[in-house]
Amino acid sequence: MRGVFISLEGAEGCGKSTQSDLLASYLRGKGLEVVTTREPGGTPTGEMIRDILQHHASGEDIAPGAEVLLFAASRAQHVANVIRPALERGAWVVCDRFVDSSLAYQGGARGLGIDTVLAANEIALAGVWPEVTFWLDLPLEAALARVVARGAHPDRFESEETAFHQRVHDAYADLAARFPERIVRLDARKSPDGVFADLLEALEPCCEPGLEEGL
Ligand code: TYD
Repeated sequence: MRGVFISLEGAEGCGKSTQSDLLASYLRGKGLEVVTTREPGGTPTGEMIRDILQHHASGEDIAPGAEVLLFAASRAQHVANVIRPALERGAWVVCDRFVDSSLAYQGGARGLGIDTVLAANEIALAGVWPEVTFWLDLPLEAALARVVARGAHPDRFESEETAFHQRVHDAYADLAARFPERIVRLDARKSPDGVFADLLEALEPCCEPGLEEGL
């Protein structure tokens, strides 16, 4: 595969979508083809699964095992229909959340364990991993304050107790230690431009050949 796959991770309110927009414009400015996408979702089937997961429409509690497999099903569709074809034609893919969200939320915060969730995602990933994953690390209080400031009705995940969000944060920290060659921690307390400067500084050494191709 010739393209470059980048994922953005972190708590709700950490600024992933702003960084995704900034990065996509930067790469497009270099003449590169960029596909921006997100999880859960990213395909019509994935968006339907996203709805099930976020809005609790059945009125029934979703079992942790079902939750992890629904996210994995959405991811399988996303990898097969969007991410892999884009990478094969040489595009850059910038994805707002990917498998590390399952590892942090289902593996860490829901307590299923990182290895179990990794195993559950093997079919979905089919060997497709991001070259680099940016973890936008925002302290819990700041992340919760940003979600409140947005004022939107909280979804099923945003309504979780503080301890859940702390476990998500701790799991991201564990993942960054476990995959140091792939996961780059960024200090998300900085301004959007400050975070983006750090992101570019980290991106250039790991994706230099692809960036040069676009010049
Ligand atoms: P979303 O509205 O995309 O949140 P955000 O704007 O913070 O990205 O909601 C996605 C929610 O789903 C978010 O709370 C994280 C959660 N999630 C998981 O629990 N596991 C996963 O694998 C993914 C992709 C998301």
